[in-house]
Amino acid sequence: MQVQIYRNYDQMSVAAARLIAAQLRIKPDSVLGLATGSTPEGCYRELIRMHREEGLDFSRVSTKNLDEYVGLDPSNENSYRYFMNDKLFNHVNIRKEATQVPDGASADPEKAAEAYEKLCASMPADLQLLGIGGNGHIGFNEPDTIFHASTFVTALKPGTIEANKRFFHSADEVPRHAITMGMRQILQAKKILILISGPAKAEAAKGLLAGVVDPQVPASILQLHPDVVVMLDEAAARDLPAFQQHESADRFGNCYFFAE
Ligand code: PGA
Repeated sequence: MQVQIYRNYDQMSVAAARLIAAQLRIKPDSVLGLATGSTPEGCYRELIRMHREEGLDFSRVSTKNLDEYVGLDPSNENSYRYFMNDKLFNHVNIRKEATQVPDGASADPEKAAEAYEKLCASMPADLQLLGIGGNGHIGFNEPDTIFHASTFVTALKPGTIEANKRFFHSADEVPRHAITMGMRQILQAKKILILISGPAKAEAAKGLLAGVVDPQVPASILQLHPDVVVMLDEAAARDLPAFQQHESADRFGNCYFFAE
């Protein structure tokens, strides 16, 4: 894994957008795996700016999102479909029909998960963007005794409901289940970019980078992927032994880069 540490969230976000833009310039018909949450918002803002001011072209891009809440339809402001339209798709020249999000409003979520797995298998990602939960989840792959391979319906952990209630009127309104891509589709991406920001993610960052591969820290499975870029801000990096010691590499051979 290549690890890049930035002074703050904004610098990390711009670097992430540049990496995605480079991918689109090299391969204009790229398939992007995309993520929701607060973390990628700055990256999406910068991509919109690059589209408006630098002509970054999304006309041939396809996307597939990691997850969706069960029970929320696309018109619900807290659905991840709504988020993606609002934070990115409505502001760039992407074809909406080329953007995929699991069908959280389906009357049969298990069936919707199966259908999404098939759909995702037909469009392998060139670049998968990820955030991470405070508990180490990626997508909604929560800590568990196993890594789930396929897209599945998962129950959200109390800590995740607590963390996500800020988007809702109360914790009671947060859906208890979600459809999430499993590890197969995530790991089959050619390249993975994971963004980690803020002190609440410091422990998860340590689990990802300095721990063993363990389904209790779902992101740790990324250690097995050959091309992962981890971008962190300093607040998220503070517990990494190599950051504290200002060493240039840790035991995984990671490259640490302290951006100005
Ligand atoms: P956040 O969520 O970016 O809103 O912190 C990330 C996640 O839970 O995966």
